[in-house]
Amino acid sequence: MKNTPSRFAPISDRLSGLGAAKWAVHVEGLDRAAAGKKVTFLSIGEPDLPPPASVLDQAVASMRGGRLKYAAGQGEQVALDAIAAHLSRRSGQEVSPDQIVYTAGTQNGLCTVLMTLVQSGDEVLVPDPYYATYEGLVAASGATFVPVPTLPEDGFHVTAKQIEAAITPRSRVLLLNTPSNPTGAVLSQNEIDEIGEVCERHDLWIVVDEVYADLTYGAPFCSPFDRPHLRHRTLAVSSISKSHALPGFRAGWIASQLEVTPRLVLVAEAMLFGSQPFIEDALAVALSQRHPEVERLSSAFRDRAHHLVSAFEGSSAAKARMPEGGMFIMVDIRETGMSGEEFAWKLINEHDIVVMPGESFGKGGAGHIRLALTNDAAVLREAGSRIRAAAEAVSASR
Ligand SMILES: Cc1ncc(COP(=O)(O)O)c(C=O)c1O
Repeated sequence: MKNTPSRFAPISDRLSGLGAAKWAVHVEGLDRAAAGKKVTFLSIGEPDLPPPASVLDQAVASMRGGRLKYAAGQGEQVALDAIAAHLSRRSGQEVSPDQIVYTAGTQNGLCTVLMTLVQSGDEVLVPDPYYATYEGLVAASGATFVPVPTLPEDGFHVTAKQIEAAITPRSRVLLLNTPSNPTGAVLSQNEIDEIGEVCERHDLWIVVDEVYADLTYGAPFCSPFDRPHLRHRTLAVSSISKSHALPGFRAGWIASQLEVTPRLVLVAEAMLFGSQPFIEDALAVALSQRHPEVERLSSAFRDRAHHLVSAFEGSSAAKARMPEGGMFIMVDIRETGMSGEEFAWKLINEHDIVVMPGESFGKGGAGHIRLALTNDAAVLREAGSRIRAAAEAVSASR
């Protein structure tokens, strides 16, 4: 057979097949809902509470005021100043606006970072379970995705030892996510220092996805970017998608050491060449003022998590623990003998409840399902009780 050269670069081949299977149950739920069936969705992590009115007002005022031209490639000064001030307040250490690159959300920020740091032949270490888009992000850069297994018994907290065991001479980046989607794990300062010590020894970049930084439920948030001895090797990426319930704004940032910023800007400009100035103005208002809506949002998620977790209290067939942060809980259904995927199909087919199989987030999620806290407490509690009863029935019939 004649060997015709492909008309496409390998990137789309690398990306194909990475997404669809993860979302099969959710997509089936959407189809059934569109056909008129009453379905409860616990699958998607889109904040369901209102964003701050003053942030929306600023976006409209800026749009009407003519802030509609091309923005600066690194970001508008007003946004860079607000992000730097936000991170300086958080860490108690000076962060300069020159260390910030504005991005179209965390996803775009992570893509910019990986394209800047790694290429084919390099390895990116990722604690498993991991956020569903990470495999695609790493594949897009050409680098190799290396999952680092974590254990449910440790609350899915990755340890320095687990990371060190996965390091090879090709390892370049450790991609962390704290608070974690899907596991709810929040890394402590001590854990970050131990992990940081391994990264120092092996000269790895630390890339940290902090999109849930403002949603913690007791465990204090800690970033490697805020640790003075780790800042030079850390790139911290976040957005106002979750904290301010504004995912559609696509408004986020990368914070890094000064020398990295110009390289990130080159890649960011190649992709977008500037964002929307009126959205950047709104992000500045989001980060510079206190908003009652933001406080309500984080206390609502905490309250919902308590309600949902309490539905599983005392069950050995479906075990859930309070997440330390984020918008999800993982339910351990290994006792049923089913995989997370089998159990998720059972829930949609027999109970009209849509959840994400743990396996959608890597091998580490096996035997679990992920529930999103994006529903009223009463709905969550009721769905939780039905999921528990379903798991107990399977367990009892074994
Ligand atoms: C861990 C994690 N990172 C990144 C994102 C995407 O964030 P953004 O809207 O800022 O691109 C999500 C969204 O669900 C997420 O859960």
